[in-house]
Amino acid sequence: MSFARQMLGATQRRAFSASARQASKVTVLGAAGGIGQPLSLLLKLNPRVSKLALYDIRLAPGVAADIGHINTKSEVKGYDATQSALHEALEGAEIVVIPAGVPRKPGMTRDDLFNTNASIVRDLAKATADAAPNAKVLIISNPVNSTVPITAEVFKSKGVYDPKKLFGVTTLDVVRASRFISELKGTDPSDEKITVVGGHSGATIVPLLSQSGYSLEGEKLDSYVHRVQFGGDEVVQAKGGAGSATLSMAMAGARFTESLLKASQGEKNVIEPTFVESHLYKDQGVTYFASNVELGPNGVEKIHPVGKLTAHEQGLLDACLKDLKGNIEKGVKFVKENP
Ligand code: NAI
Repeated sequence: MSFARQMLGATQRRAFSASARQASKVTVLGAAGGIGQPLSLLLKLNPRVSKLALYDIRLAPGVAADIGHINTKSEVKGYDATQSALHEALEGAEIVVIPAGVPRKPGMTRDDLFNTNASIVRDLAKATADAAPNAKVLIISNPVNSTVPITAEVFKSKGVYDPKKLFGVTTLDVVRASRFISELKGTDPSDEKITVVGGHSGATIVPLLSQSGYSLEGEKLDSYVHRVQFGGDEVVQAKGGAGSATLSMAMAGARFTESLLKASQGEKNVIEPTFVESHLYKDQGVTYFASNVELGPNGVEKIHPVGKLTAHEQGLLDACLKDLKGNIEKGVKFVKENP
C-alpha cells in the first residue's frame, strides 16, 4: 500500500476505492429529447456513473439543473449548443450515448429518418472522435442499421476507429420480445430473455424463439414475429404523431449502459445483444450484425454466433441479411459522399 493510502483513514479509504472503481463519466448527446431526458434520469440513479454530461442543441442546462438535484453521488453538468461546449461535454467520457435526431411519425419507416439523422450522427461522431476517441459509443439514433456504419466511417477517417467500442443499441427489441412472449405464455417477463439477432428495423429484427425452448406455430408464430419486428409502430401509432418509443427505450438504453459499466468495472459473463461490426456474415457482405455479445473492459469481448435455427428462423434471417446489407452500404456511401 502506498504511503498516501496508509495515511488515509478507513472511511476515506472506502470512499477512495469506491470512487476509483466507479469513476465513469457518461455523456448523453441529445439529452433533452424524449429518450434523452428519461435516459439521463436513469443514469443519474446509477451508482456506477460518477459524472453525467448532458448535451443537446436546446435545453440541456435545464435538464441538468433538474436532474442534478437528485441526491445520488454523481455530478451532472449541462452544456450549451456550441462546439466548445460539445467538446468539453465529451472530454474524458468513458461512454457516449447518442439519442440525438428526429423520431418517426405514423406511416414512416426508420429508413425515412435517414436524410435528417445521418448528418446529425455524422457531426456528433466527428466531435466524439476528436474529443473522446477512446470512449465506447452507443448509437440509439435511427436508422441504427445505417447510423452505426456512419459512425464507424467517421472514426476511420480520423484514424481512431476501434470496432470493439462501437455499439448499436438493439436492447429494446429483446425487451419487447421478452415482454410479448410472456403475455402469450403467462410467464414473468423479467425471467424471459429471448435472443434477437440481425438489425434494428422491420424485417431485419429476427427473434429466435426456439432457443428459449418455445415453439409457436402458424398464425400465432407469424403474429408474434410481426409484433417483435413492428412493435415500435404500436407506440408511434398510439402517440399519434408526437414521437416514438421514448420511455421503454430509455430503460433499454440505461440497461445496456449499465452492462457496459459492469463489464468495464470487472464483472464477468456480461452478455447483451447489440449491433456491432461482426465477422458472422461478412462473407455475405454484411459487415455489421446484432447478436449476443460478451462485454469486457475494452468493449466487445466475444461475438456469439446465432446458434441453431429452425427452418422458419433461417427464412427470417435470409430476408434480414438482404435488407441489412443495403442499410449498411447506404450509411457507408453517405459518409464517402458527404464527409
Ligand atoms: P426527440 O425529438 O424527442 O429528441 C431528440 C433530441 O435530439 C432533441 O432534444 C433534439 O434537440 C436533439 N438533437 C437534434 N439534433 C441534435 C444535435 N445535432 N446535437 C445534439 N442534439 C440534437 O426524439 P426521441 O424520441 O428522443 O428519439 C431520438 C432518436 O432515437 C430517433 O432517431 C429515434 O428514431 C431513435 N430511437 C431509437 C430506438 C432504438 O431502439 N435504438 C428506439 C426509439 C427511438
